[in-house]
Amino acid sequence: MPITIVPSGAALGAEIRGVDLAGEIDPATMHEIRQAFFQHEVVYFRNRELSDDDHIRFSERIGELRTGKHRTFRLHRPEFIVVSNIVENGQHIGSYDAGILWHTDGAHFAQPPVASLLHAVEVPEKDGRTLGATRFASMTAAYEALSSSMKKRIEGLEALHSVLHRDNKSKLEGNKPVELGEEEKKNLQAVRPVVRIHTATGRKCLYVSEGYTSKILGIPEDESKDLLTELTAHCTQLRFVYTHSWRTHDLVMWDDCSTQHKATFDYALPLRRLMYRTTVSRYS
Ligand code: SIN
Repeated sequence: MPITIVPSGAALGAEIRGVDLAGEIDPATMHEIRQAFFQHEVVYFRNRELSDDDHIRFSERIGELRTGKHRTFRLHRPEFIVVSNIVENGQHIGSYDAGILWHTDGAHFAQPPVASLLHAVEVPEKDGRTLGATRFASMTAAYEALSSSMKKRIEGLEALHSVLHRDNKSKLEGNKPVELGEEEKKNLQAVRPVVRIHTATGRKCLYVSEGYTSKILGIPEDESKDLLTELTAHCTQLRFVYTHSWRTHDLVMWDDCSTQHKATFDYALPLRRLMYRTTVSRYS
């Protein structure tokens, strides 16, 4: 099946055309998709009407899925995280603040995920314009753009990634963070290298985020604070960012090692946003 890869023109991101995600995909095509994914770090398939089974089946072609360990929302399927602002019977049906701060998914898990696939089921729209875009920043480009003295300074450093940090920051910004599920309570924080090596490409990626990274270990607290402020501001500059303006039935797959992301909250009910996300724990 001939496929076409159309780079977004930003530091990362490419559209993949010509793949029937719901059908059989031969190994050569899957190889091309994987290569494009590792090269562009975020890939998207436009306007592919996918059933939940199609979404899960395609995600399983990428790797092993994290299942049934998500927050205590009304689970649509154990493979899905529901990301939504919709309220039914007085209850949120999904995570309503996912992506409110820059982050990589599951930085606090014992085993951080390698990729996430988000399918747009309902996209808010006003005056002919879609809202609720997602911004992605390239952590390889951000790392490469650091000065050589900064690269030397952060080599070998480790940082603490914590859900509580995310919740506190979110509260400071006037949001009520979603309640933690049992699995998240067990996995509240983890120590990670500030620079990590991508397992598939061998490229160095900056691994700190405003959402989850609470401190850099082994250096004085004020130094850690200043360094984190500098690194988190550096890594989300526009020159490293691709903004995905969603259309209904888009499927976007992002690399959880070489990117971080942040959603745009420029809509509110009655404008509805409904997304299903699968999370890949490891590549197959
Ligand atoms: C997420 O952070 O997983 C969701 C991003 C989005 O809702 O755009």
